[in-house]
Amino acid sequence: MISQDSRSRVLSGMRPTGRLHLGHYYGVLRNWIELQNEYECWFFVADWHALTTMYRHPWSVESNIFDTVVDWLASGINPTVANIFVQSKVPEHAELNLLLGMITPLGWLERVPSYKDYVARQGEGNPPNFGFLGYPVLQSADILLYQAGRVPVGADQVAHIEITREIARHFNFLYGKEENFQQAAEGAIRQLGRKLGALYRSFVVAYQEKGDAGALEKGRALLAEHPSLSIADRDRLSGYLTGGGRMILPEPEALLTDTPKVPGLDGEKMSKSYGNTITLRDDNDEIATKIRTMKTDPARIRLKDPGNPDKCPVADLHRIYSDEATQRWMTEGCTQARIGCLDCKKPVIDAVQSEIRPVREEALRLENNRDYIGEVVGKGIEKAREAANRTLIEVRDAMGMSYY
Ligand code: TRP
Ligand code: SF4
Repeated sequence: MISQDSRSRVLSGMRPTGRLHLGHYYGVLRNWIELQNEYECWFFVADWHALTTMYRHPWSVESNIFDTVVDWLASGINPTVANIFVQSKVPEHAELNLLLGMITPLGWLERVPSYKDYVARQGEGNPPNFGFLGYPVLQSADILLYQAGRVPVGADQVAHIEITREIARHFNFLYGKEENFQQAAEGAIRQLGRKLGALYRSFVVAYQEKGDAGALEKGRALLAEHPSLSIADRDRLSGYLTGGGRMILPEPEALLTDTPKVPGLDGEKMSKSYGNTITLRDDNDEIATKIRTMKTDPARIRLKDPGNPDKCPVADLHRIYSDEATQRWMTEGCTQARIGCLDCKKPVIDAVQSEIRPVREEALRLENNRDYIGEVVGKGIEKAREAANRTLIEVRDAMGMSYY
């Protein structure tokens, strides 16, 4: 059952870059796992987005998708509560991408920071293409197709969510107007019945005349809880609350959760392209070797040289994994040159090993169960297409494109 209220719907995507690492786990997956029990969640593999930059060698996308889904499930994404699917298997994303492309001014895309960076770096050997310029439009289609109100993403994606809001607003402005909007809205208010209709009107007045944001919230909640309204009437009344036309595509919000800094082995941000990762499939020996050779405060050459945990990525890992007493032991031992770096790393190695072990074991089990993964993704695709089609029908209607 798809609930009608976009605020209860969460959507997020990840490009398939292969096996996931601790950066994904702390930056994204832990959030998703929290959200899946509270919201209707849509999590998908953004394979078309991956293609915007790796179009020269698309052959690795398939196995990257598989590895991504396996790692999601192994980390605790639960496919019985969250919908998991693959973007390109839901071709509705492409149609909405095309339609939204028509109303997106070039200037909006040219000023997106990720595009400017990419052009400045000459696309790192992949000359920037039409698809890459349109990256945020495709991302907007991903989100708006499910009318998702909340999008958990990292700070680097906020500009894309901002563009999605602008595109939604622009769409509603262009196509949400009906000639007889006032009349249609009045008709919809009557559908609410006398009491609720009056309550709704009081919210409209409180919001529009006094700017009472609480009234806007309450008005939206009232609509969400009124099951017999048609989708079109609900959209009209949502738009009428804010004094606009009919709201067809709701504006999403970025859900930014505080995530811990996960340093790579070299102290830079953990990222596959830097080759500095601890993956969710590493075994105990690999983890131990990686952390033992991990960068520390360069001032600590010998045991008697005092160090500064603020300059050491191992300390960042202690902040994630260690209790207060251990962190105090680390800080004092380091600054007073009483512990060696290898001693200091020991509790972190233990903690990372015991966190990753069950994930790795589950991933190995799932990897040998291709049919199950196929089933999970197949079901997700089916549900996604249903939901996506509902939105596309509204979109085509609003644009007057429901012919034939
Ligand atoms: N661009 C996102 C990233 O690189 C992935 C993505 C694609 C996405 N479509 C999305 C994230 C829709 C959130 C919502 O991380
Ligand atoms: Fe880093 Fe610990 Fe060595 Fe200090 S003692 S430099 S915190 S690894």
